Amino acid sequence: MHSIKQYQEFINEYQASQQVVREPKNLYEPISYILGLGGKKIRPTLTLMAAEIFGADYKNALPAALAVEVFHNFSLIHDDIMDAAPLRRGNETVHEKWDLNTGILSGDAMLILAYQYFEQYEPAVFRDLAKLFSKTAIQVCEGQQWDVDFENRDEVTIPEYLKMIEYKTAVLVAAAMKMGAIIAATSTENCELIYDFGLNLGLAFQLQDDYLDAFGDPATFGKQVGGDIIENKKTYLYLKAQEFSSPPQREELMHLFSIHPVDTNDKVASVKNVFEKTGAAEATQQAITDFTMKAFETLENMQISADKKAILRLFGEKLMSRNV
Ligand code: IPE
Ligand code: IPE
Ligand code: MG
Ligand code: MG
Ligand code: MG
Repeated sequence: MHSIKQYQEFINEYQASQQVVREPKNLYEPISYILGLGGKKIRPTLTLMAAEIFGADYKNALPAALAVEVFHNFSLIHDDIMDAAPLRRGNETVHEKWDLNTGILSGDAMLILAYQYFEQYEPAVFRDLAKLFSKTAIQVCEGQQWDVDFENRDEVTIPEYLKMIEYKTAVLVAAAMKMGAIIAATSTENCELIYDFGLNLGLAFQLQDDYLDAFGDPATFGKQVGGDIIENKKTYLYLKAQEFSSPPQREELMHLFSIHPVDTNDKVASVKNVFEKTGAAEATQQAITDFTMKAFETLENMQISADKKAILRLFGEKLMSRNV
């Protein structure tokens, strides 16, 4: 096994070795740009980690790991268009730096490029990886559509919200891990358990993403703090605030989430205040812990050594304490 830092270095090296300058520039430069902005590389790290946990050499998992990362970056370009986001990883978003059409087409090309990485695997493994990938990608689209649909819906339930974040975010984290397991040719049971582990970790991850979107530090967060509030996103924070609010607080929240002011500072500050006063912020922190613990429970039945379980647990704990 290797350390998280080492896995990240392996991914960066492999990614750098794959960079080719191609024409037309307006298609490929945005791709190099977004990939060059870095990011935490959580998903590809999990692919390499899962491969080694189930006995494969991490090198065999590099193409799949990069496929997942390229797909993730594609989804970010399109997500930033859909969310009207100005900032990504501390820099201008692709559609702001170039334009909307460039963001759409470069994103499309990245989706295809991601698939091409699977061509390096032998037919049986290729089939399993591509099948999982296709299923996951369509779920991400479904989750993203729900996310947008919910912006204009007054009533969204917690189960609906959880389904939405499972699809838009958690399934990719789960699939990233299962790909490592597939490459290692481990048992079907282990494949399912690692998927479940990733799914719950992914849910905790998106809950925390929601939390940080409101309460992150603008100096380090890398995205526009308050972006979800500006876009009237029905996040866990919002749904819990609605549930816990007094009638006047509820009315204020409903009003704030029905307007699109030009100057957003007051709106963001007022909503954050309601999130804190109602206990929604605390409830979100609790949910992050709960889903992380649920992920850890799946480790109990996994047929791997105790030290490997400890590595997965450490990764989950690190994710919980992140602030970007
Ligand atoms: C952001 O993902 C999109 C979500 C699904 C929350 P990350 O927080 O993993 O983004 P990077 O890759 O580290 O920038
Ligand atoms: C993103 O959810 C999910 C996908 C990119 C598929 P968010 O919209 O919350 O992600 P960020 O906060 O912009 O990174
Ligand atoms: Mg977004
Ligand atoms: Mg979004
Ligand atoms: Mg977010």
